[in-house]
Amino acid sequence: MGKSFAVIGDPIDHSLSPNIHSAAFRELNLDSSYIGYRIPKGELESGIEGLKKIKINGFNITIPHKIEMMKYLDKMDESCSIIGAVNTVLNNNGMLKGYNTDMDGFLEPLFKRNISIKNKNILLIGAGGAARAIVAGMAKEKAGNLDIANRTTLNAKNLAEFATKLGLKTNTKKIEEADKHIENYDIIINSTSIGLKNEESPISFEGANQKTIAYDIVYAPMNTDFIKKAKEKKLEVIYGYEMLLGQATRAFEIWHEMKAPYNAMKKALLGGF
Ligand SMILES: NC(=O)c1ccc[n+]([C@@H]2O[C@H](COP(=O)([O-])OP(=O)(O)OC[C@H]3O[C@@H](n4cnc5c(N)ncnc54)[C@H](OP(=O)(O)O)[C@@H]3O)[C@@H](O)[C@H]2O)c1
Repeated sequence: MGKSFAVIGDPIDHSLSPNIHSAAFRELNLDSSYIGYRIPKGELESGIEGLKKIKINGFNITIPHKIEMMKYLDKMDESCSIIGAVNTVLNNNGMLKGYNTDMDGFLEPLFKRNISIKNKNILLIGAGGAARAIVAGMAKEKAGNLDIANRTTLNAKNLAEFATKLGLKTNTKKIEEADKHIENYDIIINSTSIGLKNEESPISFEGANQKTIAYDIVYAPMNTDFIKKAKEKKLEVIYGYEMLLGQATRAFEIWHEMKAPYNAMKKALLGGF
C-alpha cells in the first residue's frame, strides 16, 4: 500500500515541502504522496486524531504547532527533546515519534562546504524557535564563542541561558552593537524573519572580515537584503533554501530509511522560486 505524508501548519498553502517530497517520490518511483494540511491554532488535537485515523505514515510540523505538538508525541528523539520543539513525526502503528531535523538541516550546508564551527566566533541574530535548533547545532559542533543579538533582549537572554546549559560560551548583544564589531565574527547567521517581506538586512556588513561567512535561514525570497549586502562585500553566503533542503532530506531519511535524492529535491525546490 502507498504511504502518505503531510505538512501541518497555518498558513500552509505557501509551503514548499509538498513539492520537495513529491519530487523525491518521483525520482525513486515510490508509491507515496505528500500534502499540505492546514490545521489552525487551537485545533491541533483533533487534527492529529484525523491524521492517525487515515494512518498517515509521517508528517512535518510548521508554524504555529512546533512546540504544542510535543504534547501529542508518544516518543521523542534526542534532537526533539533537547530543542523542545518538533518538526518531523514518524507514525509507527499509531505510536508517534518526534524528531527535530532543523538542527541537522542547519548544519548540513556547512558540512557540505567543509566549514567547521569548532572554536569559531559566531554571531546569531534572532532568538526564536529556529534559533534554538541552531544553538543546539552549535553546541554539538563545539563553537568557540556565541554572541546572540535579538530585538527583544529578554528572548536573547533566555536563549543564552539555554546555550550556556548546553556548554557554550555565550554573550547577548544589541543587534547594532554586534554590527559595529562585525570584523570579529567567523560566521554570521540571520535566524530572524527579517527578509521575508523584503525588509532591510539587520546587519550592514560594513567593515566585515573577508573570511566571514554569512548564513541567512530565510528562504523566500532567496536573495534577501542580508544575502545581497554580504555578497556586495564579497563574503561567502549560505542560503536559507539550503537549510530547508537539509531538514527535508533528513526527514525523508527518517521516514523511508534510505538516502534522500538530494539533487532531485533541490531541483524541485529551486523551481519553486
Ligand atoms: N531555512 C529553513 O529551513 C528554516 C527553518 C526554520 C525557520 N526558518 C525561517 O526562520 C525565520 C524564523 O523562524 P522561527 O520559527 O524562529 O520564528 P519565531 O520563533 O517567530 O522567531 C522570530 C525571530 O525573528 C525576530 N523578528 C521578527 N520580526 C522582527 C523584526 N521586524 N525586527 C527584528 N527582529 C524580528 C524575533 O525577535 P523578537 O524576539 O524580538 O520577537 C525572533 O527572534 C522565519 O523566517 C522562518 O521561515 C527557516
